[in-house]
Amino acid sequence: MMEEIWKVDPQLAEAICYEIERQADKLELIASENFASLAVLQAQGCVMTNKYAEGYPAKRYYGGCQWVDVAEDLARERAKALFDCDHVNVQPHSGTQANMAVYMAVLKPGDTILSMDLAHGGHLSHGAPVSFSGELYQVVFYGVDREKETIDFDQVRDLALKHRPKLIVVGASAYPRTIDFAPFREIADEVGAHIMADIAHIAGLVATGLHPSPIPYCEFVTTTTHKTLRGPRGGMIMCREEFAQVIDKTLFPGIQGGPLMHVIAAKAVAFKEALTPEFKVYQQQILKNARALAQALKDRGFRLVSGGTDNHLMLVDLQSKGITGKEAEWALEEAAITVNKNMIPFDPQKPFIASGIRIGTPAVTTRGMKEKEMGAIGEWIARVLENPGQDVRREVAKEVRDLCERFPLYQVLRRECGGFS
Ligand SMILES: Cc1ncc(COP(=O)(O)O)c(C=O)c1O
Repeated sequence: MMEEIWKVDPQLAEAICYEIERQADKLELIASENFASLAVLQAQGCVMTNKYAEGYPAKRYYGGCQWVDVAEDLARERAKALFDCDHVNVQPHSGTQANMAVYMAVLKPGDTILSMDLAHGGHLSHGAPVSFSGELYQVVFYGVDREKETIDFDQVRDLALKHRPKLIVVGASAYPRTIDFAPFREIADEVGAHIMADIAHIAGLVATGLHPSPIPYCEFVTTTTHKTLRGPRGGMIMCREEFAQVIDKTLFPGIQGGPLMHVIAAKAVAFKEALTPEFKVYQQQILKNARALAQALKDRGFRLVSGGTDNHLMLVDLQSKGITGKEAEWALEEAAITVNKNMIPFDPQKPFIASGIRIGTPAVTTRGMKEKEMGAIGEWIARVLENPGQDVRREVAKEVRDLCERFPLYQVLRRECGGFS
């Protein structure tokens, strides 16, 4: 495949090859990223991208859909088997569009949503003022308890009783603890609200039974397919049978046009992979690695929000180390370690500076790294953040490169970049 790109567009080919090198040579610790398999990448690069397939399997507005119907049916059936849900829609182009479809299916502009504050771990699409969700709906935010830094259910109940939301949104982008869906259901029932659980981050853990499933408690469950689930970039909606029709018609033709059939094909492949016993072992290792990395950082005197992690990510509070999230992200980048700055609960800094970094283990675990490597990574992070200056960063970058060579990534693709650089 790369041969043609080199011929037609060498400028772009070069950028792709540099990106392959970047992914392979650096330590990817962004909690929302992963490395899709070659099978997923191949499906995503297939001819199904050529096909218009507005509608749903067996009910399309275009002819010639028999093979894309196979792809979408496979994706739907496998998703249902993975999550044990009544109905699934695999067409959302992204997690944000999955959430948008649920909002538009059950809310009218001006209705009230109760969701987790972005600054406490929530997501932009859960009602942040800069998102359509904050513009169209009245949004009330809950957060974490100041001391325990876990979801404050007393606050959730108080706010629900006071504001009577139509929809309660449960789920986060930066919450290191297990989410208990049962109390949300009780609160929602008290005020007559529906619940949308957004499991974008934890979908792989939920699919393998390593995090409690929201399905029994929530009318709607949305996810992305590219984080712990390790599929192509995209979204998905699961819902109870009674909402199947309204969800499907709100997504298409409500807010999307033709589905990305090549991405849906790749989702089918990813779901097949996720149904294997090896995928469960992989998810278990993500958890073990997160615990090992959290421990290594704590041993070096770093404070973790809520004291640790139950899932694939942790939030490091850098305030006592005299460095901001922004500075830490940059220092680590220079040491070939990729993380993102992140607000911590009750953060005195602005979002673009932030007092913390978010670290996740899904991608390094895909490369085959285990607890021993997490110990080394924790040590390098500490060295870089505690020692300003280029020398330490250069030393660590070299050690990172040696480690990455021992856990190779996308070797076939790197060979296809042959002659490059
Ligand atoms: C909890 C949560 N929901 C939704 C999304 C949005 O996904 P996308 O970037 O595909 O729109 C994210 C992405 O980070 C997320 O963390």
